[in-house]
Amino acid sequence: MTRKARKRLEYNEKRLERRDKMLHKDKSNERATVEEVFDQATRLIVFSLLKKGLLYEVNGVVSSGKEARVYWGTTKDSKDLAVKIYLTSSAEFKKGLLKYIEGDPRFKNIKRDTRSLFALWAQKEFRNLEEAYQAKVNVPKPIIVKSNVVVMEFIGKEGKSAPSLKECPPENPERFYKLIVTNIKRLYQKAKIVHGDLSEYNILIWKNKPLIIDMSQSVSIEHPMAKFMLTRDLNNLNKFFSKLNVNVIPIEELHKQVVGKNNDKSP
Ligand SMILES: Nc1ncnc2c1ncn2[C@@H]1O[C@H](COP(=O)(O)OP(=O)(O)O)[C@@H](O)[C@H]1O
Ligand SMILES: [Mg+2]
Repeated sequence: MTRKARKRLEYNEKRLERRDKMLHKDKSNERATVEEVFDQATRLIVFSLLKKGLLYEVNGVVSSGKEARVYWGTTKDSKDLAVKIYLTSSAEFKKGLLKYIEGDPRFKNIKRDTRSLFALWAQKEFRNLEEAYQAKVNVPKPIIVKSNVVVMEFIGKEGKSAPSLKECPPENPERFYKLIVTNIKRLYQKAKIVHGDLSEYNILIWKNKPLIIDMSQSVSIEHPMAKFMLTRDLNNLNKFFSKLNVNVIPIEELHKQVVGKNNDKSP
């Protein structure tokens, strides 16, 4: 490894450490210091959204997942926003990976590749949300996407997101089950999308209705994995609601109902 490469590696590691420390502090009552929280490229994206007036403040971290962090943001007129940032350099595996690739000319482009991958997920999530929203599926209203950053309606109050089905099982599970089935039907028949990661974690309870989130992995019903993903989604749903003593629709019948007559591609 050349001296220059080693220096860069050391610099990057320090930067990542610093950033991780910042991100794990509870910043819910502060205006986030954008400089310290994000990597350089993401910082520029967030700044451009701030400059355009699409975003006024980025506040605390709402959730920190494997691929994305969700922040509570606000507009100038104090409306809440959810800012989902697909991470570009802080996942644990990347720390490890950087050690092996920095300074190796064969991996000169790996960072950029990862970045475009995250950007692709962000665009995909945005588009899926848009299509679902237009089909009147109960999802957060998508607002804007730029590179690895998706801005959408905030579901919750004062920076606290609405509880998931997992955290807060509904009082009337039959009604919720039916409403979710209606939403999945709409998603399939109107938006022509399969969610693909539907579970009690990705359904929030908001205004006494189920609200579906987390659509980066969702696919078109034409996708070769669509049928498999739909079956998995419906099984997850039935499993969760069976535990709440709902008399769930048998999986084959449910599948038929969701797909509808005109869309059934099975032989
Ligand atoms: N639009 C939103 N409004 C409020 N909270 C949200 C919103 N989107 C996501 N969250 C919060 O962030 C968490 C993770 O978001 P999600 O989209 O499921 O990402 P992940 O891929 O990390 O699971 C959710 O469980 C929820 O608590
Ligand atoms: Mg999720």
